[in-house]
Amino acid sequence: MCGIVGYVGNRSAVDILIKGLTRLEYRGYDSAGVAFFKNNRVEIKKSEGKLENVEKLLRTFSAESLASHCGIGHTRWATHGKPTTQNAHPHRAGHVVLVHNGIIENYQDIKKELISRGHLPISETDSELFGFLVLEEMDRGLGLVEAVRKSFAKLQGQCSVVVISEKEPDRVVGVRNGSPMVAAEDPEGGGLLASDAQPILDITRDVYFLEHGDMVVAEKTGLKFFSLETGKQVQRKSTHLDWSVEKMEKQGYAHFMLKEIYEQPTALIDTLNSFLDRAKTEAFPFMPQPAVEIIRQAKEITLVACGTSWHAALLGKYWLEKWARIPVNVELASEFRYRNPVLNPGAVLLGVTQSGETADTLAVIRDMRKTGVPTLGITNVRGSTISREADSVFYTSAGPEIGVAATKTFMTQMLGFLLLTGYLAKIRGVAPPEKITALFDDVIRLPHVLSSCLSPDSTLNLEIQKCAKALSRAKGFFFIGRGFSYPLALEGALKLKEIAYIHAEGYAAGELKHGPIAMIDEQMVLVVLAPRDSWRDKTISNLEEVKARGATILGIGADSDIQLKSLCHEWIPIPEGDAKKFDESLLPFLLTPVIQLLSYHLAVLKGTDVDKPRNLAKSVTVE
Ligand code: M6R
Repeated sequence: MCGIVGYVGNRSAVDILIKGLTRLEYRGYDSAGVAFFKNNRVEIKKSEGKLENVEKLLRTFSAESLASHCGIGHTRWATHGKPTTQNAHPHRAGHVVLVHNGIIENYQDIKKELISRGHLPISETDSELFGFLVLEEMDRGLGLVEAVRKSFAKLQGQCSVVVISEKEPDRVVGVRNGSPMVAAEDPEGGGLLASDAQPILDITRDVYFLEHGDMVVAEKTGLKFFSLETGKQVQRKSTHLDWSVEKMEKQGYAHFMLKEIYEQPTALIDTLNSFLDRAKTEAFPFMPQPAVEIIRQAKEITLVACGTSWHAALLGKYWLEKWARIPVNVELASEFRYRNPVLNPGAVLLGVTQSGETADTLAVIRDMRKTGVPTLGITNVRGSTISREADSVFYTSAGPEIGVAATKTFMTQMLGFLLLTGYLAKIRGVAPPEKITALFDDVIRLPHVLSSCLSPDSTLNLEIQKCAKALSRAKGFFFIGRGFSYPLALEGALKLKEIAYIHAEGYAAGELKHGPIAMIDEQMVLVVLAPRDSWRDKTISNLEEVKARGATILGIGADSDIQLKSLCHEWIPIPEGDAKKFDESLLPFLLTPVIQLLSYHLAVLKGTDVDKPRNLAKSVTVE
């Protein structure tokens, strides 16, 4: 979704804005712009398309004018109005200039009123209108801070804004109401505002995650926080982030997505360490924390999520029900929130969201909390909204994920669920202790096993690359799997659609003959996920049905599975090696990089923008 950066201080604002917006590019955007003070006037440079278009526009300025110390910047993901230069932010209303993230629901009413009072908005956006509201308040004699506060009260919907005014140079005012906002003090003087922490980490790791209804004012002397409701100053505590800047660089990889795929073993180790007390020798030694207390009381668990996180949740259901014998429902947040659902007494609701900012998932958490249902989250971002909205959260530790396609965060969500599964199975006494210990031993070995087959020059990667070449002209793909491989079939198809723009469907293997089989011909590729698990033989029967109808088959299975290989036109062997003795519950961790790399290589062959696929955003903060 939209990215925001604001700065005032002693450094070059334009440098900080451009660098910051570059750090936010991963969120997805279709136009960009910056505004900065030059001799007490605000210059705006904006353009449709990529940020580099804005950089080109900035070349017309002298180095002296670019040394401005105050400004705001924006990357826009269009909601109201096309992605044109005119609709790009920042927007001006007289001496007021602003950027905005989120949706103003009552914008049509506001627009009518503004026009009736003689204002002439020039864009199709809801955002621009806010500037006129602030302008009117300042014309009535209010200062910028109070004018923003009063104007914001007229808005309906969830959004964040950052505003400057030529009447009050060197002051940047931000409001957070729904859409996330982070602020930080520059150790060299001044302050920064941004829609997430990434643009700030070049300057400092101590950040303030604004709460709903917070206002922040950045001046050369630092930051002040206010309540939007009362206008009174409030104190906020900073959070120290351990994300390194290096993790946000490509480090020689062609794409962030590729780097993040290869970072998965490390992400697993870090997540193990954040969930467990590794000093203990028992199986699944969870750190004592409020989230654990809540989940251990659960009689039933409802998981809500969107996209890839929903796939992780689905896998979580399979594991939790098998091992911990606890009923689990998996729900799409966007459906659940408008369905008037019924939860049984003792139910716990768990929102799964790597960003911690997905609007639909957060809405469910809020609604359920009001009804008294205990709410939990699994998120990768410390300080994100879910960590403040839910009763408590579990943190995965994948580190910053820049590629829009979720990869390592998916892997760590899966691990989170497997760890919860083992823990609940243990404390509920529903699985033999020796089986739980064996499962835990496998979990501990997992990162090492994964890293042994995951490297750019590994046979696995070369095999996948070869298959991608052979299949790059296919009309479409069906990913099929059963049991633990079914959520991965869904995830494989989603990855291919989102980064390679190739039509793909994920299906439970047993469902093909109930309709989709009619689409099968030799230009259609069937990707069969059939590791050696309880479902393998049944999946192979489904493969045979489709093969008989002419599909091109790509099999993904154990390297020793000669029978499966013989049925396939293309074949990706998963090295069993150390994984041979793994419980079948762990096989999804070995399949995951395969489907990720397959999509990656197909996308590269197609020449798409792998890290920033068209029309997509990293955190979907609007419903
Ligand atoms: O931040 P979240 O996990 O809540 O995001 C949910 C989806 O928007 C996300 O998983 C999306 O499907 C990804 N682009 C998938 O790669």
